[in-house]
Amino acid sequence: MKSPTAATERPALSDDTALLALRQATRERHARIDTLMDLRRMGDRARYGRILQAFHAFLAPWEQSVANALPAHRHAWLHGRSRRHFLQEDLAALALPPLAAKPAVPRLQGNAAAWGSLYVIEGSALGGQVISRALAGAGLAPGMGSSYFHGWGDDTPGMWRDFRSELRSELAAPACVETACAAACATFDALTAHLEQTLDERVTFA
Ligand code: HEM
Repeated sequence: MKSPTAATERPALSDDTALLALRQATRERHARIDTLMDLRRMGDRARYGRILQAFHAFLAPWEQSVANALPAHRHAWLHGRSRRHFLQEDLAALALPPLAAKPAVPRLQGNAAAWGSLYVIEGSALGGQVISRALAGAGLAPGMGSSYFHGWGDDTPGMWRDFRSELRSELAAPACVETACAAACATFDALTAHLEQTLDERVTFA
């Protein structure tokens, strides 16, 4: 006999199933990009300038790729969360030209892939708070070259909470989580490759 609850009772996914899967899937990639950026060398102005130029070059095509994969009703939301204008501010403050390079960004196929990729750049705002403190120690303040990593500043935890709540509902179906994890890995890989090329440095990981 068919269980009376079979149609309505699905195994409850823990609230953070998608987030935990994304974190787990990208853990090594995060460690790799963290090593490449190297907090201890943030005070090296020439190198830091190249990091800013690399992020600036990456984020425009990346945002376009995410916008193409998201439904139209999400575009204003995406625009509202963009931190690209902070990079423009930093390049102007430090008199740095934009890179001519056009980095390859992942082609995101559909909504779940877009949310996996968004996780990477939205999550990076958390590490940005740590980087911002290191930059302050090297004499760089928001408005004077550290606006991007400072980002939303004290509003960062609240912005992250809001993002997590959206992520939870967008990736509620287990099939979406797998797609999102693959897109998150591809996003880390593309950004890492672009940073390596811009810095002319390589990170080797066992
Ligand atoms: C020097 C470089 C970096 C450092 C020191 C760093 C450090 C950190 C730290 C401390 C957190 C945890 C913050 C918290 O839980 O409050 C974090 C989270 C995160 N970072 Fe980074 N980060 C760096 C670069 C990046 C970059 C370049 C990206 C991607 C573009 C990135 C993506 C993420 C993501 C996705 C999370 C969220 C993890 C989660 O909660 O699931 N990070 N980072």
